[in-house]
Amino acid sequence: MSDLYPVDPAFAAQANLSAADYQRDYAQARQDPDAFWGQMATRLDWYTAPTVIKDVSFDLKDFRIRWFADGQLNASVNCLDRHLATNGDKTALIFEPDSPDAVAQKLTYRQLHARVCQLANALRNLGIGKGDRVTIYLPMIPEAAIAMLACARIGAIHMVVFGGFAPNSIADRVADCTSKLIITADEGLRGGKKVPLKANVDAALKLPGTHSVETVLVVRHTGGAVDMQMPRDRWLDAVMDGQPATCEPERMHAEDPLFILYTSGSTGKPKGVLHTTAGYLLWSAYTHDVTFDLKPEDVFWCTADVGWVTGHSYIVYGPLANGCTEVMFEGVPNYPNFSRFWEVIDKHQVTIFYTAPTAIRALMREGEAPVRATSRKSLRLLGSVGEPINPEAWRWYFDVVGEARCPIVDTWWQTETGGILITPIPGVTDLKPGSATQPLPGVVPALVDAEGHVLHGATEGNLVLLDSWPGQMRSVYGDHQRFIDTYFKTYPGMYFSGDGCRRDADGYYWITGRVDDVINVSGHRIGTAEVESALVLHKDVAEAAVVGFPHDLKGQGIYAYVTLKQGIEPSEALRRELVQQVRNEIGPTATPDFIQWAPGLPKTRSGKIMRRILRKIAENAPDQLGDTTTLADPSVVESLVQNRREA
Ligand code: PRX
Repeated sequence: MSDLYPVDPAFAAQANLSAADYQRDYAQARQDPDAFWGQMATRLDWYTAPTVIKDVSFDLKDFRIRWFADGQLNASVNCLDRHLATNGDKTALIFEPDSPDAVAQKLTYRQLHARVCQLANALRNLGIGKGDRVTIYLPMIPEAAIAMLACARIGAIHMVVFGGFAPNSIADRVADCTSKLIITADEGLRGGKKVPLKANVDAALKLPGTHSVETVLVVRHTGGAVDMQMPRDRWLDAVMDGQPATCEPERMHAEDPLFILYTSGSTGKPKGVLHTTAGYLLWSAYTHDVTFDLKPEDVFWCTADVGWVTGHSYIVYGPLANGCTEVMFEGVPNYPNFSRFWEVIDKHQVTIFYTAPTAIRALMREGEAPVRATSRKSLRLLGSVGEPINPEAWRWYFDVVGEARCPIVDTWWQTETGGILITPIPGVTDLKPGSATQPLPGVVPALVDAEGHVLHGATEGNLVLLDSWPGQMRSVYGDHQRFIDTYFKTYPGMYFSGDGCRRDADGYYWITGRVDDVINVSGHRIGTAEVESALVLHKDVAEAAVVGFPHDLKGQGIYAYVTLKQGIEPSEALRRELVQQVRNEIGPTATPDFIQWAPGLPKTRSGKIMRRILRKIAENAPDQLGDTTTLADPSVVESLVQNRREA
C-alpha cells in the first residue's frame, strides 16, 4: 500500500526548492514567523509595507487572527499592474471554449488589466464602492476573472456563486450578504448544453430577501434570448464600452475583506467564508509557486470552476499574482470525447495540470486509448485536489497520463484555509500514492483524539492545525461567533478541520475524509442538513436523514432515508419528485443517488437520529452496526437493513 516513489533526481536538479531549503523554511516559519512571513511578504507590492506581521491568538478569551495588519495594498494591482512593465505582453489567460471548434482566446496581462479597469470604472459609475458585496454567477469565461479582479480593484467584496447552483441557492447567498449587484451571463455552455444563468438570476430575484440587488450586469456569451428588465438589467459590454482602460485602485488595508465564498458545513445553511486581502493573496501566491515549482515559462491549467475556492486561489489570485500563463477551460472532460483534457494540454502546451480525483476516475474508466491518442509531452507536473485520491487512480494518473515522468502533488486544503496546506513539494518530497504527505512551511498539523489530546507517532485521529497561517479564513460573514464556535470550540486553542487523518511511521499524512456531517461528492462539499431541509419541504415528507456512502466515481454519493407522512404511499413518481426538489432547491450537485423509504428512523430515546447506523446501512455493512441497544425502537433498524440499497 505505501510504496514509495522517490524524487526523480533530474526533477530535483531543476526544482526551485531543495530538501534543505524546505527544512530551513519550515523551521524558520515555526521558530520566527515574523521574520519568515515578513520576508515572504516582499513578494507582494504594497503601498505601505507591513511592520506588524503575525498577530494571532486561538485562545477563546483573547481570540484574534490578523496578519500584516498595518500594511496597505490592492490585490488587482498585485495580479495585473505590477507585471505590465516587464511582462505586459505575456499571455495571462488562454481561454479554451466549451467546443473545440470555437476559437481559443488569449489575453495578455496588458489586455486583462485594461478590461479589469474598464469594468471597475463601470462598477464605480453604478455606485459600487469599497465594502459593497457583488455577486458573480458566471460560466468559466474570462469575464469571471475580470469581474473578480474589478471588484478587488475598487475594494468591493466579491461573492461567487457556482454556475451549477439553483435560484434558491443564489437567493440565500445574495440575501445573506445583501449584495447590491449581480454579474451574470445570458447562458452558460457546458458539454454542448446551455445553462440558463440569467433566467436563474431572474428567478432568484423573485425570492424573498433579495431586494438589496439594484443592478444585474449580463455578459453576452451564447447570444441566447434573455428577459432584460429595465432599468435593473444592463448588458455588461454596454456599461464597459467607452470606459477608460485605467482605474485608480482602492488602497486596501491588509485585513479588509477580499471575498466571501459560501461553503457547506455540518449544520444549517452554508456559511459565508470570509477571506481578507493580504494574507489570502500572499498564501495563494506563495503556495502556487512552491507547490507547483513554478517557472516563468510554465503554462498552468487548473480545471476547477471559479465558483469553488480552487478556482479563486489557483485560477485567479495565485497564478495571476505570480505572473503566470494559464488555461481557463469552459468545458467538461468528456465533451466532445474522452480525450478532451489531453487534447487541450497538447493544443496549449500545458506544463502543469491540476485536477480532481473524480475526473481522473471517470477518465480512467474509459481506458488508456483516449489518453494514448495524445502526446502530453509538454507536461512536467500533475496535481490533485478536492478529495482523497485512491491509490489506483493515483497510479493511473502517474503511469498513463504522466507516463511515469511527472510527479503528482496531492494537495490537501479547504475553502477555509485559503490555499494548500499539506502537499508534496516536487523535487523535495518522495511520493506515496494516496498520501498528501507533508505540511508546507507555516502549517502545523496535529492529530487529536475525541477529547482533544494530541496524539504522537504513527496514529489516526482528527486533523487540527495548532497555529495560524496567513491564508486562514477570518470570519463567517455576518456571524463571527459562528466562526469561533465552528472551528475553535471543539478543541479549544486549535483549528479543527472536520477531517479524519492517519499519520504513518514516516510522518506522512493520509486524509481519510470528513468526520462531520459533510459529504464530499465529486470534490463538492454538501451538508447533509441542506439536503434534508430540501427534502422535508415536500408536502408528503415527514422526516429525512441523509448520509454519504462510498461511490466508485464520485468518491461519495448521497443516500437519503425518507419517512413519508401518514397515508402516503411510496412510488417511483414521488421518488423522482423528491430528487427534482433537491435539484431545484440546491442544484444538480446535490442530487440524491439513492432514496430509501424509511417507515421510521433509528433514534435514541432522546430523539436524536443515529447517523452512525444509517451510514453503515448505506455502506452495505449491516454486520457493523455496533451498539443498537440505546435505540428507542430497535426494530426500525431491521426493516431498514432488509430494504437497503443493494451494492
Ligand atoms: O475533506 C477534505 C477534502 O475536501 C474538503 C474541503 O472541501 P472544500 O472546502 O470544498 O475545498 C476543496 C478544495 C480544496 C476537505 O475538508 N479534500 C480536499 N483536498 C483533499 C481532500 N481530501 C483528501 N485529499 C485531498 N487532497
